Formats: sequence, C-alpha cells, structure tokens
Amino acid sequence: MRQAIRVAIDGPSGSGKSTLGLELARRLGLAYVDTGAMYRAFAWKVLQAGADGPEEILDLLARTEMTVDADPDAFRVLVDGRDVTGHLRDPEVSSGASTVAVIPEVRAWLVALQRDLAQASVVMEGRDIGTVVLPDADCKFFIVADENVRIERRTAQWGESSNRAASKDVKERDRRDSSRKTSPLRAADDAILIDTSEQTIEESLAIMLAALRIDASGAAVGADSS
Ligand code: DC
Repeated sequence: MRQAIRVAIDGPSGSGKSTLGLELARRLGLAYVDTGAMYRAFAWKVLQAGADGPEEILDLLARTEMTVDADPDAFRVLVDGRDVTGHLRDPEVSSGASTVAVIPEVRAWLVALQRDLAQASVVMEGRDIGTVVLPDADCKFFIVADENVRIERRTAQWGESSNRAASKDVKERDRRDSSRKTSPLRAADDAILIDTSEQTIEESLAIMLAALRIDASGAAVGADSS
C-alpha cells in the first residue's frame, strides 16, 4: 500500500504559496489544507463574539469546534457547523488572524487539528508546517517573493485603489508573523527555497514536482533536496 505523502509549504503572505499548494494538490490528487484559513476561521468567531483579551478568547476556544473539508477544489472551513469560508478574506478577519496566531494555546489547538488532518496524504501550507506541524514531512518548500511583488499581488486581488492598504497589510503581517515568540515564520533547515518574484506559476510548480520526484505511476517517491 502506498504510504501517506505529506508536503509542507511555508512562506510569507503573498509569496504565492496558496496558489502553488492548491495546484500541486490537484495535480498529485492529494488533500489540501490551508492552515491560514484555520487561524482566520477562529479569528472570525472571535470577532463575531466580540471577545476581547486572552481570557475571553481562550474561553471561546474551549467552546469551538472546527472541521475542514480538505478537497482542493472545494476547500472549506466550518466553525461550530457553520461554513465560514466566504468570510475568511475580510480585512478585519485577516488582521484578527495574525492577532490570534500569537496566542500559544490557539496555536497548540490548531496544530493538533492540523496533525490529525495530515494522517492521510496532504499538501499543507502555512507558516510553521515544516518546522512545527510536520517536521517529518516528505518534502518541504519555503516560498518567498520580494516585498514589492507581494504588495502588487495583494493589490491585484483587492483592486487598484487598495495599494496603500495592501502595503500596510503585507508589512504589518510580516512583522507579526516573524517576530512572535511561538513558532515565528522561518524556513526549516531541510526546506527547498523557491523565490517566485520572477517566476511563472508553471516554473515554480516544475521545481516542486521535480523535487518530489514523481514516479511512473504518478506516486511521489520522496524529496530530492540536492
Ligand atoms: O496565510 P494566511 O495569510 O491566510 O494566514 C493568516 C494568518 O494566520 C497570518 O497572519 C499568519 C497566521 N498563520 C500562522 O501563524 N500559522 C500558520 N500555520 C498559518 C497562518
């Protein structure tokens, strides 16, 4: 029987890791988990509840149930049985996500859920997948892009008039994600670094597929990080 294949993808916001992770999962026929969406989903609940301060947030966490549909063509996050996927890109949810992501108990709770989801083959993306969630992943990628390129990509998503907001969002989230005490964003020592600044999606994907060494039957047979 084929063993579970676990691919870890990390990187800062706007680096292209979601686009690449989704497409890789589709081509390999694997499940796909965007762990940022899980932080966002909990942030959505915190905002809805108007919870303020660590105590209220942890109290809410203890009463939260989260399920993830890891289908790359229909990825969804349900909080207490409600599909909140459509709310996850709201600006206040984005900002709230990086705030709840600094709370160690929130991280521990989500990491346990994420490890559960990775019992079967999966492409999982986030900030700490290769370092904390799946340190023994079969293949790890760390995706980067120049800050200006990432701001341009965010602006293209949000609309031309949003350039200043996009710039603030990228810079502020980089600062929080990299400086927090628990699981700051960093590349695992054995991650393959891909700079997408001047690459097309196909070029980046080709590097990933080559590193995964797909065999004749379409099965990934392990990493080649040489
Ligand atoms: O990837 P994203 O922009 O959807 O992530 C939302 C926030 O969640 C981001 O500020 C960083 C945080 N996050 C994290 O701390 N750890 C992860 N594994 C994924 C996301």
